[in-house]
Amino acid sequence: MKNSTKSIEHATPIDDISGLKLSSSKMYTMSDIYEEEANNILQATLKYLSAIPTKKEAPFAYSWLLLLHEEMFGQVWEWAGKLRHTELSIGVKAYLVPMELKKLSDDIVYWRANKTFDTIETATRIHHRAVQIHPFQNGNGRWSRMLANIYMRQNGLMPVKWQEDLLSKENKKRDAYIEALKKADGGDYGDLILMHGVTY
Ligand SMILES: Nc1ncnc2c1ncn2[C@@H]1O[C@H](COP(=O)(O)OP(=O)(O)OP(=O)(O)O)[C@@H](O)[C@H]1O
Ligand SMILES: [Mg+2]
Repeated sequence: MKNSTKSIEHATPIDDISGLKLSSSKMYTMSDIYEEEANNILQATLKYLSAIPTKKEAPFAYSWLLLLHEEMFGQVWEWAGKLRHTELSIGVKAYLVPMELKKLSDDIVYWRANKTFDTIETATRIHHRAVQIHPFQNGNGRWSRMLANIYMRQNGLMPVKWQEDLLSKENKKRDAYIEALKKADGGDYGDLILMHGVTY
C-alpha cells in the first residue's frame, strides 16, 4: 500500500486526478473527491433550485450551459465549464460538441416559444440531449440532471429527486436510468419522462 496519511479503506483510489484543484499534499480517495464535488454542487443547487430561477438567472443560452457546469464543479476541477477535446466512449465526437450544444440551446428556445412539448417532456429532452452530447470530461450526468431540474423549477414544477448515489454501480436504479436513456436514444422518451415525474 502507498505511504499515505489517509486511509483508503472502503474507497477506490481515483485513477484520473489530472485537473484536480484540491491540495496535492494529501492523497484523495474517490469518496473524498465525490464529497468535495457534492459540496460544490450543493451551492449550485441552492442558487438555482431553492427559489424559482428567473430567465435572466437561468437563460439556457450556450454560455450559461457552460457556466452551470463551472458553478457545479469549478471548486474541484480545472476542466469545469470547459468543453472536452478528447473522445470518450459516450458522447458525440469532440469537434462536434460546440455545434451540438448550440443546437440544443436553440432548440430549448424554440420548444419553449412554440410549446412543442409539455414541461416534463421538455426537461426530459434537455436532460437526454445534454448527456448524449457529453460536452465535458466528467460530471455530464449530474450537470444534465441539474439542467432538467432547473428547467422544471423555472416552469412551475418541483425538481426530480434523483438518488445521487446514481454514481454507484450497485444502485439498481442506475440500470433502469441508463436503460431509459438508451430508449430515448431510439426516440422513445416514455420511461425517462416517467422518471421526471418523481419530484420532491
Ligand atoms: N451506457 C451508459 N453508461 C453510463 N452512463 C451513461 C450511459 N449512457 C449514458 N450515460 C449517461 O452518462 C452519465 C455519466 O457521465 P459522467 O461520468 O460524465 O457524469 P457524472 O455526473 O460524472 O456521473 P453520474 O451521472 O454517474 O453521477 C450517466 O449519468 C448517464 O446520464
Ligand atoms: Mg463521472
